Amino acid sequence: MVLLEGTELDDRRGRVWLRPFTHQVGGHAGIMCYDKTTICKPLVSQEQVFYESLPADLRPFTAQYKGLISVYAETDSSGQLGLVAFSQNDNDSLAVQTLATKRKHKRGRNGLSEKLLLEESHFLGKSCHDRSNGCIKVSSFSINLVQDSDTAYQMEDPNGNKNDIQERNSHNPWGLHCLRTLLSHMTSEFTENKLFRFVLLENVVSQFHQPCILDLKMGTRQHGDDASEEKKKRHMKKCEQSTSSSLGLRLGGMQVYQAKSHHFHCRDKYYGRTLTEEGFQQTLYHFLHDGHRLKKELIDPILQKLLCLKSIIERQGSYRFYSSSLLIIYEGKHQSNSNLGHRKGSPAGYSTEPPPPSTMPKVDVRMIDFAHTTYKGARNNTTTYDGPDLGYIFGLQNLIHILRKIKDGD
Ligand SMILES: Nc1ncnc2c1ncn2[C@@H]1O[C@H](COP(=O)(O)OP(=O)(O)O)[C@@H](O)[C@H]1O
Ligand SMILES: [Mg+2]
Repeated sequence: MVLLEGTELDDRRGRVWLRPFTHQVGGHAGIMCYDKTTICKPLVSQEQVFYESLPADLRPFTAQYKGLISVYAETDSSGQLGLVAFSQNDNDSLAVQTLATKRKHKRGRNGLSEKLLLEESHFLGKSCHDRSNGCIKVSSFSINLVQDSDTAYQMEDPNGNKNDIQERNSHNPWGLHCLRTLLSHMTSEFTENKLFRFVLLENVVSQFHQPCILDLKMGTRQHGDDASEEKKKRHMKKCEQSTSSSLGLRLGGMQVYQAKSHHFHCRDKYYGRTLTEEGFQQTLYHFLHDGHRLKKELIDPILQKLLCLKSIIERQGSYRFYSSSLLIIYEGKHQSNSNLGHRKGSPAGYSTEPPPPSTMPKVDVRMIDFAHTTYKGARNNTTTYDGPDLGYIFGLQNLIHILRKIKDGD
């Protein structure tokens, strides 16, 4: 069975086949690739509203918002499955019509257009589908994933158990789990024939060859104002029992490239929930370690960005970034000495000058996931707050403190 790894096909009717995103380290529903520099994720209108009225100050620290698309799951008679996107520029009725015509033609069924609904999707369920030999089974559908011998991912669970490194595949294991959740939702009997709206966002890791990614859930509180009493209790308990309450930081997932063994070492959010303060600090240390050595040269550039972000967040009165994450990203691919700081003409190893800016370690810090962000002036917000988000600032302060400690070798 062939599927989603498919082409970046943009056929004449303006449809685009989506591919699974290789480097998803956290979250719950599958993130998809629209093109090389654009990812897409199921729309939550609160997130759309946030991006559409984004404060200019935050732009360098967020992903560029690129608009909306409509997506549906397409299967043919041989069980091949794909996610197909329509540009939102076509009006929805046109998209629905095209889809209905297409399905009518394929399956020889009538009247599908009446059943098609445009809905905002919610992905609450957990999937329980098989995975074997790089092939995912979702109900009766299968997905083939590209096998890439250059890259492998190894997930370690809270008990230190690791999956078999020989099982080389080209996707983060957590991302595959999320992909199953997305596909099983989109192909369930309750959502059949529905179009889903997705947001298009800049892929913030597209400039990296081997992106090392840390997803930190920020703040001391995770639930949004719209959470039910039951959900609120669940989230508060998770915060109390984890580093969210003590540090305003919790690991939501990570992947670190290991130079020795040429694979990504991965951790997921379940591991993150078990960490003590000390364990969290060690995890941060491991995030900066490539198997050979601690990459201390990354710390100052990351600190610079975090200090800048902190001063910006301190100016954002009324914003509360509940359940959002901060991504810290750096290049895991080995940069040879000739690329690192030795100017033309100077003998390698003897340069005392700082490296030219283009060869400074490549790091990035970005805020993501604004599905529960609230601020004064947002549509439909039930509560408003004064002053900046102190839980977020507390998290940033602790992160800065821990990084300084690691730098000083404590
Ligand atoms: N703009 C982006 N560019 C690259 N990766 C992203 C981007 N947004 C999200 N991700 C990846 O997807 C994961 C989940 O994203 P998130 O927005 O938190 O999803 P969810 O709403 O399911 O929690 C992140 O941990 C990160 O690995
Ligand atoms: Mg998230």
